[in-house]
Amino acid sequence: MSEVNNKYKVLFVCLGNICRSPAAQGIFEHIVRENGMTEKIAADSAGLYGGHAGQHPDRRMRTAALYRGYGLTHSARQVRGYDFNDFDLIVAMDDQNYEDLMHIAPSVEATHKIRRMAEYLTTHKISYIPDPYYMGVEGFGLVLDLLEEGCQNLFDSIVKAESL
Ligand code: 4NP
Repeated sequence: MSEVNNKYKVLFVCLGNICRSPAAQGIFEHIVRENGMTEKIAADSAGLYGGHAGQHPDRRMRTAALYRGYGLTHSARQVRGYDFNDFDLIVAMDDQNYEDLMHIAPSVEATHKIRRMAEYLTTHKISYIPDPYYMGVEGFGLVLDLLEEGCQNLFDSIVKAESL
């Protein structure tokens, strides 16, 4: 449990922090709200690449997410070293994100906080969340399908593991 606010804190991480991770954050926060757990669980997102810092999520992702009822309001930011202290769990969207996070983790203990989003998929047989940036509309829909399942299972696993 995080020392800040005593909440369990999850950080979703992708490359740009304008497509996958802000969508994961929005979906996860929606599930947290629906389950009345906002006092106990919090989320944020960040990117390994800082070039989009300050930007809202990609318009295509905002449109696709809003169509499913998720308003994405996050401002992009780069992952920072302190995130490994501030968050209880850091969830990478793909293998490259995972490797990069492992590389910048400040301690062995910090590496234990890093997970892959695909670990929480059950019905979808895919080992990573694909980058939709260069895809068409279907790519954004697929990413949202994967994230809806992954975020629900992630939420359930946290509630169970932390007895929340
Ligand atoms: P994301 O997608 O990692 O899901 O936010 C990307 C967004 C931008 C870039 C790459 C991936 N980019 O190279 O600018």
